Amino acid sequence: MSHKVHLIDHPLIQHKLTLMRQKNTAAAEFRRLLKEISLLVGYEATRDLAMTTKVIDTPLEAMEAPILAGKKMCFFSILRAGEGLLSGLEELVPSARIGHVGLYRDPVTLEAIEYYFKAPADLEQRLCIVVDPMLATGHSASAALTRIKGAGAKNIRFICLLAAPDGIQTLKEDHPDVPIYTASLDRECNEKGYILPGLGDAGDRLFGTRSGSIKKK
Ligand code: URA
Repeated sequence: MSHKVHLIDHPLIQHKLTLMRQKNTAAAEFRRLLKEISLLVGYEATRDLAMTTKVIDTPLEAMEAPILAGKKMCFFSILRAGEGLLSGLEELVPSARIGHVGLYRDPVTLEAIEYYFKAPADLEQRLCIVVDPMLATGHSASAALTRIKGAGAKNIRFICLLAAPDGIQTLKEDHPDVPIYTASLDRECNEKGYILPGLGDAGDRLFGTRSGSIKKK
C-alpha cells in the first residue's frame, strides 16, 4: 500500500513555525501559533472530503449548492501536546467527535505505554484524524494508531507539526494505510528522542510546565 507524506509548507505556516521554534517564545504565543497552524494544516488534510449538493434559496434564486457529504469525523488527540493541534481542528469542524489517547514514553526504551483511552463507539463509520505535534521516533504515534484501529477505526489520517525521518519510517512500516500531514520534515531525532532542530518539548512549551533549556534534562 502506498504511504503518503504530505508536506504542508505554505509560507504562513513556515513563518509561524519559525516563531514557535525560537526558545524565547512564551507559552501563550506558542499556543496561539500552534492553533493557527492547526487551522491551516487541517484545511489541507480535509481538502478531499466527499461532497454532495443540496438545493438552497439565495435571496435571488434557488441553486444547487455544494455541502459536505455528511461523512462523520473524529479527531483524536494524543495527550498531552495533541491538545494544541486539536484546538484549531475543533473550530474547523465543530460537529466532529473527539477521542483521547494517553501514552507516556518509557525513559529508557522510548516505547509508548498507554494510560488513557476514550473514543466514540462508532469509529468504523468515521474519518479519524489523529493529532500529535511531534512525530519523533514514531513509537507513540504507532501505538496510538494501533489502539485506535483496535477500537474500530478504518479510515485514519495523521497530522503533526514536525516529522523526523525515524517517525515517518515507523509509521510507514506499522501503518502504511495512514497518510501523514506535516508542516516540516526535520533532520533527525537525538538519543533522547527529541527532534532536531525541533522546538523542544511541545507539551511543556504549550502548557508552560517547564522553564530553562531542554539540554539540562
Ligand atoms: N516530543 C516532543 O515534545 N519533542 C520532541 O522533540 C520529540 C517528541
